Amino acid sequence: MPVNPRIDDNRRLEEPAGPAFGQAFTEHLVSLEWTSARGWHDPGLRELHALDWHPATVGLHYGQAVFEGLKAYRLPDDGMGLFRPEAHGRRLQASARRLCLPVLPVDLFTAAVTRLVTADAHLLPDGPGLSLYLRPLLYAADESLALRPGRRCRFLVMAFVTEGFFGPDVRPIRVWVNERSARAVPGGTGAVKYAGNYATSYAAQEEANAQDCDQVVWLDALERRWIEELGAMNVFFVYGSGSDARLVTPPLDGNILPGITRDSVLTLADHLGYRTEQRRISVDEWRVGCGTGEITEVFATGTAAGVSPVGDVRSRTRDWTVGNGRPGPITTTLHRELRRIQRGQRRTPAWMHRV
Ligand code: COI
Repeated sequence: MPVNPRIDDNRRLEEPAGPAFGQAFTEHLVSLEWTSARGWHDPGLRELHALDWHPATVGLHYGQAVFEGLKAYRLPDDGMGLFRPEAHGRRLQASARRLCLPVLPVDLFTAAVTRLVTADAHLLPDGPGLSLYLRPLLYAADESLALRPGRRCRFLVMAFVTEGFFGPDVRPIRVWVNERSARAVPGGTGAVKYAGNYATSYAAQEEANAQDCDQVVWLDALERRWIEELGAMNVFFVYGSGSDARLVTPPLDGNILPGITRDSVLTLADHLGYRTEQRRISVDEWRVGCGTGEITEVFATGTAAGVSPVGDVRSRTRDWTVGNGRPGPITTTLHRELRRIQRGQRRTPAWMHRV
């Protein structure tokens, strides 16, 4: 039985509204096994199937699991291109080291994601907002409840068709400043793509939803005032406008995920002539800066979300609007230029890996 019945339903994939994020899985699954004795072995490409997990699988009990998220796009000549797969492969290595998982060589990572894109590219319908989102997953697969790192691990790559995390439009999101829980602590796992980081964010996300907000603003765990991330995304603040514009984003201090889109936006901003700065910014600075007009735009970045404008901010004590609440010119330009690169319509920086 197919894991996801929508896989066979091409009509739904072609609907203008597009498939919901993480739902329309493609037909194949790539796998690679690892044991302490044999290293990486048995690369496979099979039809997507449900896995038969032993109830004592280590990755389930003790959370020894990390993942990646990257996208493949259709190019103008109908070929496919992966966006910065080596950067994602290197980040998976960093995550694996932190979680005591085996480190997958970047060339094996790139070969695995390329293999899946090649097998399933025909399932990506034509559409300017559509892409294949690839989800590489690395977990300890031992059947053992001993409290020690897995000696048998598995790397999987699956994919789904997506129109983006927030749907097809560049819609400003409303965010909730979470003062109750923390996403990351110094010395913790905030800087790696560890599965547990996401499960522990659900309660805060539910609180944000209850406040009629789309996403959570994560503050630092110690002083509860420095902005770290926005939901599962990095965050940028635009100071000023036009040729005087300056982009500010929190520095990679160990709590923040080194987003590939974050890095791409910093580089692209440089190409487009915007100044950039990596420094801490507090919630008060955000609120006051929006009040004085010094902060003109705020946007979030991530593989799933792309470049997403923030329109309104809500907190326990105050609410405020960024600019006029609509996507600003710099956010719009960065969103557009990044998309042009990903669609093969702009060649610099050269980030596309042809499949
Ligand atoms: C991404 O932006 O790709 C993520 O991994 C965030 C999330 C959807 C888990």
